[in-house]
Amino acid sequence: MEAAGTWTLLLVLLLLLVLTLALSRTPGHLPPGPTPLPLLGNLLQLRPGALYPGLLRLSKKYGPVFTVYLGPWRRVVVLVGHKAVQEALGGQAEEFGGRGMLATLDGTFDSHGVFFANGQRWRQLRGCTTLALRELGMGKREGGELIQAEAQCLVEAFQGTEGRPFDPSLLLAQATSNIICSLTFGLRFPYEDEEFQAVVRAAGGTVLGVSSPWGQTYEMFSRLLKPLPGPHTQLLRHLNILATFAARQVQRHRESLDTSVPPCDIVDAFLLKMVKEEQDPSTELTDKNLLMTVIYLLFAGTVTVSTTVRYTLLLLLKYPQVQERVREELTRELGAGRAPSLGDRGRLPYTDAVLHEAQRLLALVPMGVPRALTRTTCFRGYTLPQGTEVFPLLGSVLHDPEVFEQPEEFNPDRFLDADGRFRKQEAFLPFSLGKRVCLGEGLARAELFLLLTAILQAFSLESPCPLGALSLQPAVSGLFNIPPAFQLQVRPR
Ligand code: HEM
Repeated sequence: MEAAGTWTLLLVLLLLLVLTLALSRTPGHLPPGPTPLPLLGNLLQLRPGALYPGLLRLSKKYGPVFTVYLGPWRRVVVLVGHKAVQEALGGQAEEFGGRGMLATLDGTFDSHGVFFANGQRWRQLRGCTTLALRELGMGKREGGELIQAEAQCLVEAFQGTEGRPFDPSLLLAQATSNIICSLTFGLRFPYEDEEFQAVVRAAGGTVLGVSSPWGQTYEMFSRLLKPLPGPHTQLLRHLNILATFAARQVQRHRESLDTSVPPCDIVDAFLLKMVKEEQDPSTELTDKNLLMTVIYLLFAGTVTVSTTVRYTLLLLLKYPQVQERVREELTRELGAGRAPSLGDRGRLPYTDAVLHEAQRLLALVPMGVPRALTRTTCFRGYTLPQGTEVFPLLGSVLHDPEVFEQPEEFNPDRFLDADGRFRKQEAFLPFSLGKRVCLGEGLARAELFLLLTAILQAFSLESPCPLGALSLQPAVSGLFNIPPAFQLQVRPR
């Protein structure tokens, strides 16, 4: 009996040894990294809930390009700092242009839709979505007018608070959601609409879910956790609300599609192209890809810009002298009453610098969105096999001490030259770069500028609590950095 026990123990140890060797064997020639343990991967070095700081810590030991195991199966090459990220995503854009995995969302999106697709599917969806946005006037005056109109609704809603302290989160998210809903579905909703509020809250719940410590654990152990009950059922509930809403809008469009007139929104543009390509066996313009694309647009359009505007408002509360300087510039260049338009951006370098600095400091997507190698690639002397996942740590680019002096400080002047003109910084990459650079970058930048300037033209911003009590540290930090909640008081100017 005792002998049998010893043999079993030996067998288990042997199995663990074989697993360790198999894990640490590098196909091709991978960058260095900590030795993974069987079943755990690099769990000892990377605590879920603090994945990003853990990766930064490892880069101190292994350099700007290293390999880690998220859980037992997921091997990831991590890129840290501006040079490495620029060289890979910018310099070898084609090779680094695949999409990696987001385990928390992959079950729902199933490699469909523009964000999650790869290969030919991604190319067709990216082309179609970009064209639709362009045709709807993004980057042109009409696009700006749509955002300006929503900014006025937001200003009116802020006015309705009559100087009382309020949390601006929901209103900001509704404003940005209305912009993407107008572009995608041709609809805007009153802020009081309860169903719309539920959709916006579901987008917020999704962003919290994917960024939470549990979300990070799931990225490491999805295969083990998927069948078990847990917080992902809550995440699925949020995603379901978004999906049901999006599906209903698509159905409404399908029923009223008129092929004889130009499309008025993204769904129409997709449906018209689908009709044209009906007979093409290689088309990726399918019902599922359309739905998954619009669910992602609804999600991204609701949470990303509103979170950034919210963080910028927090910074302006914390640094009243910056708020004053922006307002002075607005008054000097535009006069007291006129709402800014996109054409004014060039005349407002300090305002532009504040927006850039807020985005830099926030680093909304600190770990970047996982990429994957589209073919076996030589990079800095390593051989990375096709399909290898890559995390370009955008936070480490935006806070790279080799580019940005005292990167943890809020200092808009770093985006100005000696004559006070706006100065571009190559390492300003909150939208990433390369083939899969954020598709909504132009829209997001226009929204940030028009929403923020409209608020500052209309109001002085005050904090009901002492400035020292306002924290700038993210309340949640995972896939997204989510700033803490705070109360705001606005006084008409
Ligand atoms: C401040 C606002 C935003 C930030 C910081 C941001 C950031 C990002 C980042 C880091 C990526 C991943 C790029 C990569 O793979 O390396 C991305 C992708 C994407 N974003 Fe944004 N985003 C913002 C707003 C938006 C908005 C408003 C939309 C809606 C139109 C949008 C739509 C997309 C899409 C569709 C992709 C996937 C692109 C692809 O895979 O081809 N984003 N974004």
